[in-house]
Amino acid sequence: MILNAKDPNFRYNPYPFFRQLRQEAPIARVEPFGAWAISRYDDVIALLRNPTLFSSANMSPEDGEGAQFILQTRALIGTDPPDHARLRGIIGLTFTPPRIQAWEGLIRSHARTLLAAIKDNSAVDLVTAFTAPLPTLVIGDILGIDRERTADFIRWTDTLLTWRNREHNKAEQTAQEIVDYFTELIDRRRQQPTDDLISHLIAACDHNQRLTPRELLAFLRLILVAGTETTTHLLGNTIRAICTGLLWRSLRVSPFLVPQAIEETLRFDGPVLALARRTAEDTEIYGQHVSKNDTILALVASANRDESVPPWRACKHASP
Ligand code: HEM
Repeated sequence: MILNAKDPNFRYNPYPFFRQLRQEAPIARVEPFGAWAISRYDDVIALLRNPTLFSSANMSPEDGEGAQFILQTRALIGTDPPDHARLRGIIGLTFTPPRIQAWEGLIRSHARTLLAAIKDNSAVDLVTAFTAPLPTLVIGDILGIDRERTADFIRWTDTLLTWRNREHNKAEQTAQEIVDYFTELIDRRRQQPTDDLISHLIAACDHNQRLTPRELLAFLRLILVAGTETTTHLLGNTIRAICTGLLWRSLRVSPFLVPQAIEETLRFDGPVLALARRTAEDTEIYGQHVSKNDTILALVASANRDESVPPWRACKHASP
């Protein structure tokens, strides 16, 4: 079976296609990308737990001239063990539970400010007014971006997310701006650390193993890209689920169920459809030959709706 990823029906609602794949073609070809897709829960879990055969490294050209590397570098999500563990250790030292908890006030305050700007009873584009700016503002503050550069930071984040659809010269120019700003900020924080994430990242890098300035920049880029679009989509999908389903009434009566509603949206309508890996060797899946260096997509959004997996088993697997 061939999955046409450009089919407008698939793009509008991929879930019926995923169901058909789970039932009829647990490994399928994905065109026009020339990739493979795995759709069943057990297969997705097995694939993601086997980085020796299904590698995250060398998925895309990383280098790029000069500052351009900032547009596409994948940092730790583009590495396999043991490199991954080393880099992940640095993130682990930085994103500690108490620190994350301490950000709650900041997140609430940004959310309240954005909501206060929405006029009562008027139609509003929630993405523009709330779900897109919220994660960018929060991550900007957490990282320690200078407040007067907030507008630039929002523009930079947007470029990192959409540069493939833009004029190449403009993206290159923005890449240079990003690299120049962060290089200067890293220098400043190295000399005078504060309590922001950049200072903690520098300390964690220096403590563990000194990373090159380029590796540190790649980390910052990952945090920007990994944390903004995903959160925007999860917020939007959760709000839509609340407004269009029965959730609204349940959550008004039992607001303590909000965390479960978010978790369930993450499973049922999460922002990430697939994780891409590259086969490190020739292999065979359900009798299908898959060649070394082929791209294989673990369809996590399909796995999350696999009818054969009772919820308690899915939860058991949730954390590695
Ligand atoms: C709803 C929101 C989010 C979703 C759905 C999400 C999803 C994911 C997924 C699926 C991966 C694995 C990628 C792979 O293995 O190829 C990942 C990795 C990562 N994400 Fe997120 N993410 C979210 C929010 C965030 C935020 C807010 C941050 C930071 C501020 C963040 C930072 C990271 C980092 C650092 C990694 C790499 C972890 C590793 O390789 O060990 N993410 N995320």
